[in-house]
Amino acid sequence: MKGTVRGHMNGMDRLRDHLVREYVKKTKKSRAVFRRAEKVMIAGGSHTIRLWRPYPFFATRAEGPAVRDADGNWYTDYWQGHYANVLGHNPRLIRREIAASLERGALHTGFEASHQIDLAELILRRLGYQNERVRFTTSGTLATMYSVMLAEGFTGRDLVLKIGGGWHGASPYLLKGVKFQPGTGFEGDESAGVLEDILRRTLITRFNDGADLERILKEKGDRIACFILEPFLGVGGFLPASREYLALARELTARYGVVLIFDEVVSGFRFIPSGVQVLYGVRPDITVFGKIIGGGHAVAAVVGRRDIMEGCESGKGFRGRVRFDGGTFSAHSEYMRAGLIMLKHLIRHADTIYPRLARSGDKLRAGVERAFAAEGVPAMCTGAGNDVIPGSSMIMAHFPTGGTLLRSPEDLNDERRSNVRLREDLLKLALLVHDVNVVHGGGAISVAHVTADLDRTIEAYGQAARLFKKFLN
Ligand SMILES: Cc1ncc(COP(=O)(O)O)c(C=O)c1O
Repeated sequence: MKGTVRGHMNGMDRLRDHLVREYVKKTKKSRAVFRRAEKVMIAGGSHTIRLWRPYPFFATRAEGPAVRDADGNWYTDYWQGHYANVLGHNPRLIRREIAASLERGALHTGFEASHQIDLAELILRRLGYQNERVRFTTSGTLATMYSVMLAEGFTGRDLVLKIGGGWHGASPYLLKGVKFQPGTGFEGDESAGVLEDILRRTLITRFNDGADLERILKEKGDRIACFILEPFLGVGGFLPASREYLALARELTARYGVVLIFDEVVSGFRFIPSGVQVLYGVRPDITVFGKIIGGGHAVAAVVGRRDIMEGCESGKGFRGRVRFDGGTFSAHSEYMRAGLIMLKHLIRHADTIYPRLARSGDKLRAGVERAFAAEGVPAMCTGAGNDVIPGSSMIMAHFPTGGTLLRSPEDLNDERRSNVRLREDLLKLALLVHDVNVVHGGGAISVAHVTADLDRTIEAYGQAARLFKKFLN
């Protein structure tokens, strides 16, 4: 019976079997650790993306471009702390400062400390803001959730508009239209536990589709509290917004009194030492930052128009105060300090850092496409900039299943047009076997990745391409 089942396995399954065998051979200690983890933790851990199958490796050290696992394997890493580590893992300049201040006694106090003012001033200055205000929190999820609450409180409206393919963390207001599902696309429910009423009040529009945005706003604009979007779409496909689309989004939201929220959790300080909005010349009403701005720590910021942000305080002009009150670790003094060190470094060395990141991105995306083309495996990379974003260190490899170009989150995440399983699962394992760690087909290059790392990575994609050709043709 078993033999019969095996006989029906398709190439993808056989390839997976092969890769799992190779992966298990090199990660025996991680497998043992995972078995312990499974006995005490749901699914063996605390973050779904980190828990790839058959089991994740367990990191014991990380330095610059690379991470070492429990078995002593070193991987060139493009996950880089969920894209937070733009300088690579454990940059010495932050480590040194934090170590010294920990010696002086810098654990959590629960009192206000002045580093947060420095960080707020710096962020406002970089955005060219004068009248806006900042409040810090500890995750992008919380920051986007609070921005939606502020928008709802400010406008008194009850609908939220977001992009199909937009990920803003797991806040109930925004847990819709993240995963493309057969049949329902980006309109399906994706999490139990979110009140049905909230799901119904979250509307989805298509990225870079001005006509769709105009249609929805025309129909329901007077009920929509906010439109939240990433100017550079992250996990939905690594796609930049077009100049025209963001300009139209600004114009239409202003016309309909909708609060425009830019989620710059990924794009903030990734392409320039500021928000990418500066390049577009579009000023949203609220911006959310996270990841890079914490210098490797749990920091996120909500930056917005003063009259909207005042909802946190007095609730003046609101139906009541918005309880964006903060949590135990909000604006932790050391986190603020780490963020400051990071941002000051990026600003000081912007002339070398950002062109270098852009060159690395160009090299890797082109090299990966060449590696697959050499084996006759249809593949393409997203992650590049456009006429607004001059260069990009992001990369996501895709495997089109038809002849058409993949341009939208719908194209990139629909199994009928793009082999999502190959990107998300098999490519990951194929690269791990060759000492490279990616997520969603690629990731974010850091300043610490040197030419030799990129060359090795392209070689590893080449090995993956050869395997794909062997098993899938
Ligand atoms: C664009 C975007 N917004 C928000 C979030 C949520 O941030 P956090 O993971 O810090 O809660 C993420 C996380 O990946 C993100 O990519």
